[in-house]
Order: sequence, then C-alpha cells, then structure tokens
Amino acid sequence: MKTKKALGAVSTPPEVIRFMLSLFSPTKTDSLKVLEPACGDAPFLQAFQEKFGDKHALFGVEYDAETLRPPALPNFHFEQTDFLLWDDERKFDLILGNPPYGIIGDRSHYPIYTFKDMKAAYRQRSETWHGKYNIYGAFIEQAVKRLGDAGELIFVVPSTWMLLQDFKLLRKFLAESGELHVYYLGRIFPGVQVTAVVIHLKKSSCRTLRLYDEKTLWLEKNDYQGEMIRFETGETQKWEQSASQTLGELFDIFFAARSPEFKKNPFVHDHQFIGATPALTGRNLSPGKIDYETNHTNFWVKHSGAATLREFYGFAHIVIGHTKGARVVAAYDEKCYPWREEFHLVPKVNVHERQIVEYLNSEQVQVHIKTLYRDLIPHLTRLQLAMIPIPDEVASGISQV
Ligand SMILES: C[S@@+](CC[C@H](N)C(=O)[O-])C[C@H]1O[C@@H](n2cnc3c(N)ncnc32)[C@H](O)[C@@H]1O
Repeated sequence: MKTKKALGAVSTPPEVIRFMLSLFSPTKTDSLKVLEPACGDAPFLQAFQEKFGDKHALFGVEYDAETLRPPALPNFHFEQTDFLLWDDERKFDLILGNPPYGIIGDRSHYPIYTFKDMKAAYRQRSETWHGKYNIYGAFIEQAVKRLGDAGELIFVVPSTWMLLQDFKLLRKFLAESGELHVYYLGRIFPGVQVTAVVIHLKKSSCRTLRLYDEKTLWLEKNDYQGEMIRFETGETQKWEQSASQTLGELFDIFFAARSPEFKKNPFVHDHQFIGATPALTGRNLSPGKIDYETNHTNFWVKHSGAATLREFYGFAHIVIGHTKGARVVAAYDEKCYPWREEFHLVPKVNVHERQIVEYLNSEQVQVHIKTLYRDLIPHLTRLQLAMIPIPDEVASGISQV
C-alpha cells in the first residue's frame, strides 16, 4: 500500500511559499504558463493566483489520486500522472513547488519504495542521475527541461545536492542552464530532519551563482561550473589558498569494512573469546581518544585476523569520525583494532600522524568545517576531509619526521 511517506509527501509551510513567490517578478504582462509538479492540493498555484491574479494558465501534476484535490477554477488544469515520465511538450514560464525527497529503493532501506519499479525508466530519461541519487534531483532536472526561454524554476529542496558527489552532474547541469540563486533556510519543515534551501534558476546564458543566508547575500561567483556550493568566507578562502597541502594529498582515505563483511569473516564471532577484540564504531571514538573496551557492534574479532577485513586494521593509523555531524573527530588507533565504521587514513608519504590528529581536533579546523558546511549534510564526506588544508606549521612538522 502507498503511504504518504512512501510518496515523499511533506507539506510546505505557507511562509515558505510566500517567500518563494516573493522571488518572482513577471517580466511580461500577458498570461503566464505556470506549473507545479508534485502539486498535492496545489498550494503554490493557489498562492500564485492570490498574488498575481487569475489571468494565468496554471498547471498541476500529481501522481497520487487521493492527494490531488484540484480547485475547480477555469484556469487550473490538472493531470494525475508521474511527473518524471510525463509525456508533454509544453514549455512553462515558471515552474515552482516542493518536489518529493528520498532515495528510491527497497522498502527495507529507503522510504521512497513506491517508485522502485520506475527507477530504471527515470534513470533512462535523466542525464544527471548518479550514484544512489534522490528523486528530488530528477525532479529538478525534468523541471528545468520544461522551462521556456527565460523561464524560471523556484523549488524548495533539501540542501544535500550542494555538497554530495551524487549530485555533481546535477550541479553542472544547473550551472549550464542559467543564473542560479540558492537561499539557505535551515530546518523549516516541522518534525522533519531536513535542511532546506530554495533554488531559483533563471534560464539564460549567464553562469552566475549567488548563495544567500536566508535573504542576505553570502557569496557570488560569476563563472560557476558546478563545484560544491559552500559557505566560503574571506577566511576560509585565505586558509585554503595559503595551506601547502590538503589532507587528501597526504593520505588515502578509506571507509571501514561493513557489517556483511564482518558476518562472513571466519575470524569474527558474536561472543567474546580469548584473543578477541571488539569491532569498534563511532561510539568508541572521541577527540584524541579511543575506547578499546566497549563493544557496540556485538562483533568479536580475533585480533590477529583483523587485517583480513581491511589491510589497514593491521597497522596503527588515524581514524576520523564519519557520523559526528559537521565536526572533525580524530584519534590515532595505536592498538590496530578492527572498525565497522568511520574513515581510516593511510599515509602516502612520511607524516607525523599524532601531530595531524591534534591539528584535526583543533578549534581552528572545527570552525573552518562548521563555517563552510553548516548542517547542509548530516555527515562528513571523504571529499570534505580530503579538502582540509594542512597549513605550513603542520606541514613543516611533517617534513621533519
Ligand atoms: C513534498 S510533497 C509536496 C506537496 C505540495 N507540493 C506541498 O508543498 O504541500 C510531494 C508530492 O509529490 C507527489 N509525488 C511523488 N512522486 C511523484 C511523481 N513521480 N510524480 C508526481 N507526483 C509525485 C506526492 O504524492 C506528494 O503529493
């Protein structure tokens, strides 16, 4: 059975709709063609009509018959269909709304399971689909493709597309489509753990990116190519430019072995035995410290067999938290334990690892990371870690070792 959650349904607070409409000023006086994809009961079209009058042609597309409650007005046109597979050649002056969010997949893992069987068809129609992707990315692409010349898109979506590699093709596609304004709004959906941004794209040959902190301009780039969108400041830029190296230049950054690998490894058991160590997780990790005693995984691993899971469990190395929010938490695993989580750093060159751990846990690094990434994504990624600048003082300590 379909549930509202499985369809990605989250209703949009009226003040957010008002804000999004405030970004639009019609450039022509005749009737506009306006589309709200995934419209539900069409709150955006109704607000548009209230603000701009009833001379415009308003179109809504909604998949779920129960949700679609169209206002019975002559200029409203509704279609009950899948927007991502909608065969319609019309072009629109304005497309606005709140598309569904979620990774499409198996019911056991992903909330948007309703569309699992359509995934291959979506992917086939999409030029931005990458990795696990997310249904909202496909909505953005399809909406942009339905804009007429000088058409505008105004969507409220999660902020993850700004940073994650799964959206790198989407960012490039947006950069090539026109002028892009992004408004950071934060947690605006009551009871939903999603950080939201409003995307306002004006189709043109202009490549400008503007990032706003709510309504205040934070950053402007005139030749945006689709790189990550971060809250850069003069400080963060100076620091990145002046650093002699990045963490990714000094280390290969790996992720831990996953549960299924532990389950089938002959050195792993679900009970303690002589010579066994617990498989560690993020809960065993704090700045500069590892709790080697507590078992949070219920995997006991014969210590001498740990390196069969990952070679780097066989030597001392730096571990950095993955699940600590926008915080860098690093420690040096001198006892060479097996881990079921977190990032593991293997030096490419001769480096002073303990000094780097101290530096990564420092206030300076925390401020840098928090400033750039806020709560745009819930975890730190490998790329974010790889880009951390290692300044000269630390680098020179490294070169002396
Ligand atoms: C996030 S809700 C937004 C609803 C409404 N726009 C609002 O702001 O209150 C997303 C809506 O998308 C619909 N939906 C999900 N997938 C769809 C698809 N592939 N095609 C059309 N509608 C879809 C859901 O049924 C749901 O009504």
